[in-house]
Amino acid sequence: MRILLTGSSGWLGSALAPRLRALGHDVIGLDPIASAKTLIVGSIADRDLVMQVVSENRIEAIIHSGALHKPNIENHGNSDFVATNVQGTLNLLDAAVASGVQRFVFTSTTSLMISQAIRAGFTGGARKAAWLTEEMSPEPRNIYGVTKLSAEHLCRLYHIEHGLPVIVLRTARFFPEADDMAHAIEQSDANTKANELLFRRLTVEDAAAAHIAALEKAPQLGFDIFIVSAATPFQPDDCEALIADAPSVVARYFPEFPALYAKKGWTMFSSIDRVYDAARARERLGFVCKTSFADVLAALAAEAGTA
Ligand SMILES: NC(=O)c1ccc[n+]([C@@H]2O[C@H](COP(=O)([O-])OP(=O)(O)OC[C@H]3O[C@@H](n4cnc5c(N)ncnc54)[C@H](O)[C@@H]3O)[C@@H](O)[C@H]2O)c1
Repeated sequence: MRILLTGSSGWLGSALAPRLRALGHDVIGLDPIASAKTLIVGSIADRDLVMQVVSENRIEAIIHSGALHKPNIENHGNSDFVATNVQGTLNLLDAAVASGVQRFVFTSTTSLMISQAIRAGFTGGARKAAWLTEEMSPEPRNIYGVTKLSAEHLCRLYHIEHGLPVIVLRTARFFPEADDMAHAIEQSDANTKANELLFRRLTVEDAAAAHIAALEKAPQLGFDIFIVSAATPFQPDDCEALIADAPSVVARYFPEFPALYAKKGWTMFSSIDRVYDAARARERLGFVCKTSFADVLAALAAEAGTA
């Protein structure tokens, strides 16, 4: 297929482009930042450019991952976010319809599901972890979430009005940088990322694989939204205990975890405030992340010689 990949110079785009090429696809990368993966240096906010690129390259599928995202909040205004994330998405959808594109995959974010109340650990008024599925009505707390949710709505509208097959992937975190969040384990970024695989992270390899699964299934599914995150071991019944005492909940599912963590000098977060449930992606998209917390424990066991 001839695929337009936006955000091709980014972390996800760089992981995705070679995988698509290995599957035999022609990938036309579009990004304002030049890189070996980017054929066209330009912006999705440039409507004429987008219309021209899609039609002249006889694009058959669009994977739309280019965006201003959370790290950009500090140095970009709200109108930049709207121009890139909302108008840019609209330009791509219009170009897709005009050129008869049959598959559209949009990289969204689980972060749009986090309201101020959820962030504070209050769900339904009580202190418990939020169990997050695609059924909830998001109330994004910042311009990033607001513009990503608006773009999701545009995707849904274009499916309804034009029959464009669109899959929205609400992707959990896969960034490689150290965490700036309050819960981060100061001593070890690897420790933080391992903990997060329980409830809010996936590898960039899994993020790329989810986009390929969505590309393949889009015509069959028509329109759908999927949370993409490593499979969680937790259940909705765990939500109160996850806020009060997360390590004991983790030990219930993984009895070997306390000893393996102690040996490595790692710690578990004392409290977990949300769980992204990726069950719908498993059931409807047939996609499950390859890497989960169990793999981290297996690696720790191998390292400790107890495997
Ligand atoms: N990194 C994460 O943990 C995470 C989590 C959830 C969702 N996402 C989403 O995944 C996608 C990729 O993120 P990433 O982590 O690879 O970030 P990244 O910053 O490495 O890549 C984003 C790319 O988008 C490009 N871009 C910015 N403005 C553009 C424009 N006007 N036109 C075309 N491209 C533009 C950037 O130049 C960059 O190369 C984004 O849509 C982001 O919102 C990321």
